[in-house]
Amino acid sequence: RIPVARTAADLREAVAAWRREGETVALVPTMGALHAGHLSLVDLARGKADRVIVSIFVNPTQFAPNEDFGAYPRTEADDAAKLAERAHLVYAPDAADMYPEGFSTTISLTGVTEPLEGTFRPTHFAGVATVVAKLVLRVLPDIAIFGEKDWQQLMVIRRMVADLDIPVEILGGPIMREADGLAMSSRNVYLSPDERKAAGQLNVILKETAAKVSGGAPIAEATKEGATRILALGFDKVDYLDIRDAASLAPFPSDRPTGPARILVAAKIGKTRLIDNMPV
Ligand code: PAJ
Repeated sequence: RIPVARTAADLREAVAAWRREGETVALVPTMGALHAGHLSLVDLARGKADRVIVSIFVNPTQFAPNEDFGAYPRTEADDAAKLAERAHLVYAPDAADMYPEGFSTTISLTGVTEPLEGTFRPTHFAGVATVVAKLVLRVLPDIAIFGEKDWQQLMVIRRMVADLDIPVEILGGPIMREADGLAMSSRNVYLSPDERKAAGQLNVILKETAAKVSGGAPIAEATKEGATRILALGFDKVDYLDIRDAASLAPFPSDRPTGPARILVAAKIGKTRLIDNMPV
């Protein structure tokens, strides 16, 4: 069984013991309901550091009131079992430990937080940035690992760590996908069988839209066609489908990629909102 730290004090004691031995430490922040995507980050961490800590905390401040905080899957016993042979410590604080009475600080970024997810979830990245800063400052790991599945989140965290001189190396891990290419997500459990089938085509449309733009098609035209095809699959709404500068997520003024580019999508099917992205 893997040890579980519930408080910052227990966490610091475990890390201090490793540090006395000269060991390096990697942190993989999660909200639990672990799947093979999360576990791939844990395995990546093990190759990069002597000790691996996985945090499990369903962070209330990154959910808007109308979002699925209450329904978000919580499976800590299963998560701990999956981590037993893969990591050295689970850090699973409760909300009162993270945000005690009187907590007043929020880290909010301009720029990279504003488009795409920021348009539809305007308070989300402040919640993410604040909790990730707290997790990283509590653990003080050598490296922290995040999935490319949440590409904009990864760019936000890189920006924050650079801006605030937080001494940690941020690593991105590749997106793990199901056999049909659907990006693994804790929210996929919400999908009905018909929705699951349609969801498996989202990555195909992303790939084909990216290929058109690589072949010379203007971004606006290719993404408009892609969004129409997503709706034809049975999706209810496409929040966005766009090709942006991979790091800043700014649009390309010329409507064609002039540097490293990423195609990103968010779309709703039934009560589930799915996101995905890939390089162009
Ligand atoms: P969560 O959604 O649990 O994801 C934890 C980490 O796993 C994130 O870095 C995410 O990008 C990565 N991940 C999710 N699905 C993946 C997949 N299919 N392939 C590869 N990596 C994948 O993201 C969060 O939690 C939270 O916002 C958090 C950073 C923990 C802050 O609360």
